[in-house]
Amino acid sequence: MGHPRWAQAVATQCIGYHGRPMAVSFRTHTCGELRASDVGRDVTLAGWVHRRRDHGHLTFFDVRDRYGITQVVTNAEDAPTAHAAGEAVRNEWVIQVSGTVRHRPKGTTNEQLATGEIEVAVDELTVLNPSKVPPFYINEEQPGLDEQLRLKYRYLDLRRPEMQQRILLRGQLASAVRRAFDALGFVEIETPTLVRSTPEGARDYVVPSRLQPGEFYALPQSPQQLKQLLMVAGYDRYFQLAHAYRDEDLRGDRQPEHTQVDVEMSFVAEGDVMDIIEGMVQTVSREVLPERPMLATPFPRLTYEQALDRYGSDKPDIRFGMELVDLTDALRDVDFRVFAEPIAAGGAVRAIVAPGCGGYSRKQLDELTDVARRGGAAGLAWLAVEQDGSLRGPAAKFLDDDVQHTVRDATGASEGDLMLMVADADRVRGAEALGRVRVGMGDRLGLRTPDVLAYVWVHRFPMFQWDAEGNRWDATHNPFSAPVWEEESRMESDPASVHAQQYDLALNGWELGGGSIRIHRRDVLERAFALMGHSVEGMRDQFGALLDALEYGAPPHGGIAIGLDRWAALLADQDNIREVMAFPKTQSGSDLMMGAPSPISPQQLDELHIKIERET
Ligand code: AMO
Ligand code: AMP
Repeated sequence: MGHPRWAQAVATQCIGYHGRPMAVSFRTHTCGELRASDVGRDVTLAGWVHRRRDHGHLTFFDVRDRYGITQVVTNAEDAPTAHAAGEAVRNEWVIQVSGTVRHRPKGTTNEQLATGEIEVAVDELTVLNPSKVPPFYINEEQPGLDEQLRLKYRYLDLRRPEMQQRILLRGQLASAVRRAFDALGFVEIETPTLVRSTPEGARDYVVPSRLQPGEFYALPQSPQQLKQLLMVAGYDRYFQLAHAYRDEDLRGDRQPEHTQVDVEMSFVAEGDVMDIIEGMVQTVSREVLPERPMLATPFPRLTYEQALDRYGSDKPDIRFGMELVDLTDALRDVDFRVFAEPIAAGGAVRAIVAPGCGGYSRKQLDELTDVARRGGAAGLAWLAVEQDGSLRGPAAKFLDDDVQHTVRDATGASEGDLMLMVADADRVRGAEALGRVRVGMGDRLGLRTPDVLAYVWVHRFPMFQWDAEGNRWDATHNPFSAPVWEEESRMESDPASVHAQQYDLALNGWELGGGSIRIHRRDVLERAFALMGHSVEGMRDQFGALLDALEYGAPPHGGIAIGLDRWAALLADQDNIREVMAFPKTQSGSDLMMGAPSPISPQQLDELHIKIERET
């Protein structure tokens, strides 16, 4: 089978002029390409002036593009016209230079630059476009640069080499993901973004319909129903880099619009999805960031209960230990209200040990207490281990020698260590609050080693949680997640004990992805709905197509979605996903560059049959 004609044309275009892939009309080489082996070659470069140094009859320009920086020199004697043309040129002007590659003089080579051994002696310099003075420096790293300004002039911010590195890393991540799925036989299928709402727990962004006055599309919170329908349609390995939209409170790892690596598979059990996704994640991580080791392969798999008990989190950072220790039994008979009341109410007292922190100041302890309180705890108790092994701290006087001994034994705390404890009647809340303190201690002690990638699976989440307000059981994930099949028969008799076939992938303390095996049988789904207090008719309104489809030969299936923005941020060692998104929104959901959201014209409103009521 020959190549179609268009393929030939595209290939010729890519090879470009002079047989060099990056050569186009305005350049023969990129600014990152020339080496000592090119000395003597006549070249043309085009790019932005990164820096200009005027030495009288010599002017040096660092010319930059996204491939790198090349030093070019104009000489007033050898090429007076080019030299004169360069006089007005300033930073960020776009220029084109032609000349000859030569070695830099001895002692002036720059080992930091890939092109640092050479420079281009310029014969011709053309200004392609001048630039106003940018609102911030582009050629210098600027920690603390005002983010509002960066977002308003995002096209300049994106020009900064550190931003470019991150955006390019994200691009490599996306293409590595595609290659890996391709190799695994997955088919990429796009789903629409004008859909009917799929509840994923957030508010919808909606789009009014002009043709059907008073009706609205929703932007998908995820392609959940559509990907399940693709399974019914027989495309048994689907993936997509899908945009998902959620109107929720924003924070560092949340944007109104994000990208999911969305996956669904048929004829799979939980372990299949985890194995296949883990294989993909390992391949991609090695390919994109070989210099950042994965902490453990295969990825550890914790049940939700284990994750909570050991790390106080369903997205544990396992780069360090400092695991939670349950002291409930050891403290059961202690007459200290702070411990006794929660224990009597069926709760727990848990501790972590911060090695060598026994000398923490009042202020440091107060800060940690704040962390615990923000996590939902009523407070944080502490005990420091003294030289003689005795314990010091507000609770110490309530603990007799025996109890002190048991506590030291159970926690492994020794001289100079600090024990931090949370007591809570609600076991989950208490563990999560102490989990936050653990992460805070990890930061303080520098235990969250930045270059290590600690992927970990958390699975077997409880299927239902009791919704006291609604007086009903509610799904902890989405209503289509399947129960662990062996526990299915307990759904009605003991819902709290049933686990969902749900799995989350965590990375360095962030939730990276989540998914589940779905309920593909209508009878099981109806039972789950009934427990959640929904009638099938009620659910039909939200999930009509999917409910119907279950009756037309729906295969067993399941899937997952991985947050691409979070993945890119963690790989780029950033704590805000904005840093790896080309055009993110602010905390209040604004696009400062384009000015969105914005009012629309009265005519547009009329067409959409919408009247805006303004508060006066
Ligand atoms: P979930 O709601 O867990 O699952 O989302 C999957 C992953 O998407 C990322 N994510 C976000 N990233 C940035 N900003 C946001 N606002 C945001 N919300 C979510 C997270 C998260 O782990 N349909 C299911 C998947 C499935 O069951 O297959 C879903 O969307 O990294
Ligand atoms: P209080 O008697 O409430 O002042 O608390 C005495 C000490 O116990 C203080 O150091 C509190 O921070 C701490 N504390 C209070 N509630 C809890 C709790 N639920 N778990 C752990 N420590 C607590």
